[in-house]
Amino acid sequence: MSGTKGSSLCRLGLIVTLACIISLSLMFVMFQSPKNCPLPPPRPEQSLSPESKSSLTNAIEDKPVLLLWFWPENYRFDFSDCKTIYNIDNCHVTDDRSLYDNADAVLIFHKAISWDLTNLPQSPRPPFQRWIWFHVESPTNTHRIPGLENLFNLTLSYRHDADIPVRLKLNTRKKPDTEFVIPKKDKLVCWIVSNNAPSTGVGTRNKFYQEFSKHIQVTMFGKAYSKFLDPSEYYPTLASCKFYLSFENSIHKDYITEKINGPFAAGTVPVVLGPPRKNYENFVPGDSFIHVNDFPDPKSLADYLLQLDKDDEAYRRYFNWRKYLYPTPHLVQQLQEFILPICTACDHIGRHREYKQAHDLYEWYFN
Ligand SMILES: *[C@@H]1O[C@H](CO)[C@@H](O)[C@H](O)[C@H]1NC(C)=O
Repeated sequence: MSGTKGSSLCRLGLIVTLACIISLSLMFVMFQSPKNCPLPPPRPEQSLSPESKSSLTNAIEDKPVLLLWFWPENYRFDFSDCKTIYNIDNCHVTDDRSLYDNADAVLIFHKAISWDLTNLPQSPRPPFQRWIWFHVESPTNTHRIPGLENLFNLTLSYRHDADIPVRLKLNTRKKPDTEFVIPKKDKLVCWIVSNNAPSTGVGTRNKFYQEFSKHIQVTMFGKAYSKFLDPSEYYPTLASCKFYLSFENSIHKDYITEKINGPFAAGTVPVVLGPPRKNYENFVPGDSFIHVNDFPDPKSLADYLLQLDKDDEAYRRYFNWRKYLYPTPHLVQQLQEFILPICTACDHIGRHREYKQAHDLYEWYFN
């Protein structure tokens, strides 16, 4: 902002100077004694003290350049989406590798890095440039590619303690919302499963589900159950269920994904399986979800849900939080999967220019 102000002041100065030159030459031509040309006003940047310049969030004159080194999973999108979807416009995102020498930050998608590191940037890193480790999978689904331990400056992850945490948060509102109506329900418990590969850590949730589904009816959707849901049906389908199984594929601290955001955004009560309840409560209110660990076994959970099905008032209490909080629907098209993390990185480097080294990457990530 001060950049725009600065340049308009500068332009003003230029106009004043030009006007001076023209009038001076006129005066010279007319053999009149020249008057003093007033100096153009100083540019605000020059009058700033060094202290005020190094405030925590620097006012940035030119937008920093964020170079996306790999397209994650080759899911391409238009960089202008950062502005149109998230109103993030404070960096210049590019995938043009010829801009490497000028890039303020390079965003490097972990899964695309080759085992011998030969597809990483090979020319020397400019002293101002920061490399960002971009990884949104849980440790269970992470390859320990050797040689990355001390290579990066910043981490981008779902982890709360990453340099750039990526997560859609609930937002607060000051004026209570009294309008919310629970959507019409015609199913009790629903679950969309797209991934069922045992290697991804889904054993825990499958074991729970096997026992749980003996006691209550679960309506299944998704690739893994050959009942593929079109992305446009995602929110309406969730809305039509009383409960949704927000079961993470693997259990790790802070690994709480869009699987809980979906039911929130749709107006459904999530039943979560993942890190402990306390960890969920770092991000969402304790009375907004049901945790499987709140029950001694899957049958007790099923009994509780059947009981809630008959008790509208008790069910409605799971929506009380919506008076002062509201969710943001996440993007559901596959090609949109990495828009939020990439735009979040852009937002971060638009606000931060601090020096940083990220050491012992895997020690932080796996322990
Ligand atoms: C980025 O990290 C590397 C590796 O630790 C370090 O050598 C470099 O000085 C850091 N640069 C910045 C700008 O943070």
